[in-house]
Amino acid sequence: MSQRTLLVTGGAGFIGSNFIHYWLNNYPEDKIINLDALTYAGNLSSLADIESNPNYVFVEGNITDRELVNKIMDDIDVVVHFAAETHVDRSILNPDVFLQTNVMGTQVLLDSALKNNIKHFHHISTDEVFGSLELGSSKKFDENTPYDPRSPYSAAKAGSDHLVRAYGETYGLPFTMTNCSNNYGGYHHPEKLFPLAITNLMDGLKVPVYGDGLNVRDWLYVQDHCSAIDRVLTDGKKGETYLVGGLTEDISNLDVVKLILNLMGKSEDMIEYVTDRKGHDRRYAVDWSRLNKELGWEPSVVLEEGLEKTIEWYKDNQDWWRPLKEESKDFFEQNYKK
Ligand code: NAD
Ligand code: DAU
Repeated sequence: MSQRTLLVTGGAGFIGSNFIHYWLNNYPEDKIINLDALTYAGNLSSLADIESNPNYVFVEGNITDRELVNKIMDDIDVVVHFAAETHVDRSILNPDVFLQTNVMGTQVLLDSALKNNIKHFHHISTDEVFGSLELGSSKKFDENTPYDPRSPYSAAKAGSDHLVRAYGETYGLPFTMTNCSNNYGGYHHPEKLFPLAITNLMDGLKVPVYGDGLNVRDWLYVQDHCSAIDRVLTDGKKGETYLVGGLTEDISNLDVVKLILNLMGKSEDMIEYVTDRKGHDRRYAVDWSRLNKELGWEPSVVLEEGLEKTIEWYKDNQDWWRPLKEESKDFFEQNYKK
């Protein structure tokens, strides 16, 4: 296969850095340009091991910077667009930057992709755009579920999804899209539930659980997300969306936290109930059968196995997460109320 050049946006973040590692391992002949603004969520130490790879280039910059984006897009075959503000709790405290990056930044990339005749624009989105399912129901999100975003984060992601489809319909942009459920694994910022729980417990601190703890998420090991994106980039049909989800049957936050406590040998006294998230979506569940039937993808890591690997990763990589936790102290103080 001839060399392809991929523009990965947000490659210094959680999924983006996992994806860059995945891609260079599986397609070492391809070239990757990583455009990342290095916000609080971007971390170059996640990519330190590939810094000197001749097929990897890092560009520090913002996706809202039209001139820079146009300059970079010149030689690109495929865009894989991860860059976004991603934490729901931060979107509740300060929605502005979510609109700037997730909506306006995506529009800049779309304009530039058209201008430069990009062959394939892949947009990474989330299951949160579909809103909230009822607790106890067996319903799942699928490709036909209407959009019903309920947080500033998910509304901004929904806006970006609509723009991508609009550019496909109106201007013929060759795009694909994936809407994925909750990822977990290494390089995950310790503001999110799993890494927060693991790192707190390592330091003898309690795990904050919002509200009654009965909210349900659909958990997917990040490597399985990377293989799903690979399937779509390789064989996905242009103009189509594929949902990506994990192997979990409904499991509440409380039960997931108890599983983490158990795997780390800690008692349930380490749970601390705190004030609920505003507008907290109750339940997510994803039907990924289309991606399975049409492109042969399925997740491979069950929750307990993925959690064991993740706990080991945080034990082995304290130099990676300790500074991030320190930097986020103000946010933690603002966010958590008893
Ligand atoms: P993250 O917060 O860990 O990383 C985001 C990255 O984007 C960071 O490196 C940050 O520096 C960069 N970035 C932010 N604003 C930017 C800007 N204006 N210009 C350039 N770079 C910018 O995010 P993540 O969890 O890796 O999520 C990646 C993508 O996947 C997002 O689009 C998110 O909506 C989507 N997604 C995430 C999950 C999940 O569980 N984490 C699930 C489904 C979909
Ligand atoms: O569903 C996909 C989404 O998953 C992505 O689009 C988002 O970018 C990503 O951040 C994630 O969103 P969530 O809000 O679901 O993830 P978070 O880890 O923040 O929270 C998971 C659940 O745990 C949620 O129900 C809120 C709860 N929670 C979270 C934190 C941080 C707690 O109970 N306590 C906490 O301290």
